Amino acid sequence: MNIEKEKWNAAIASAEYVKNGMLVGLGSGSTAAFMIAELGKRVAGGLIMKGVPSSNVTARLAKQAGISLISLEDAGTLDINIDGADEFDAQLRLIKGGGGAMLREKILAHNSRFNLIIADSGKEVDRLGKFKLPLETIPFATQNIMEELGKMDLHPQLRMKNDEVYKTDENNCIVDVDIFQKDDLEELNRTLIQIPGVVETGLFLSTTDLVLMGKGQTVTSFKK
Ligand code: A5P
Repeated sequence: MNIEKEKWNAAIASAEYVKNGMLVGLGSGSTAAFMIAELGKRVAGGLIMKGVPSSNVTARLAKQAGISLISLEDAGTLDINIDGADEFDAQLRLIKGGGGAMLREKILAHNSRFNLIIADSGKEVDRLGKFKLPLETIPFATQNIMEELGKMDLHPQLRMKNDEVYKTDENNCIVDVDIFQKDDLEELNRTLIQIPGVVETGLFLSTTDLVLMGKGQTVTSFKK
């Protein structure tokens, strides 16, 4: 079974949770793109919903799929937020931000009544951190932040794209760090977020209500 099919299966299963009239947070990344395509089909078939996109790419995909968009401020609280993840563990803690969109993704997760993560079977891990943790940083402070992270043995790497410094939708930088050896992720997250100029981390430690993971031909649920 290929990974793309697992993502599709999880995405299709997640669309079942979207009911008429719902305000839906739309995640970013390749798995979320399948979910957006599936919701688009359902909207064409009569589903009434509005989406708040977590990135400029997602906004474009949603418009192409025929999904009506609404701003977060007009939406207020979302009924459901559906997003992908780079890793999840047995406590439904996540690393996100492989696509650099975790700031708005975390804002949507925080403002949603129900958070649903969709994933392929490669995302389930015993211990978070094989995937490098992304931190969104203000450009003005990024070099100094990297020196500080280096002293914490986090092996910071400035994310690049096509030989240029990668910039997020908010025009910030991403610094990827190695947290695999860290045991207390709550404490680590508090420490990281307190560094002036760190805007957000890709650690989502308590927001997730349900993970739907495609595995082979099936979809497995992991609940809180
Ligand atoms: C985007 O910034 C990320 O948080 C994605 O949700 C995450 O990287 C998962 O992406 P894929 O579905 O492409 O693996």
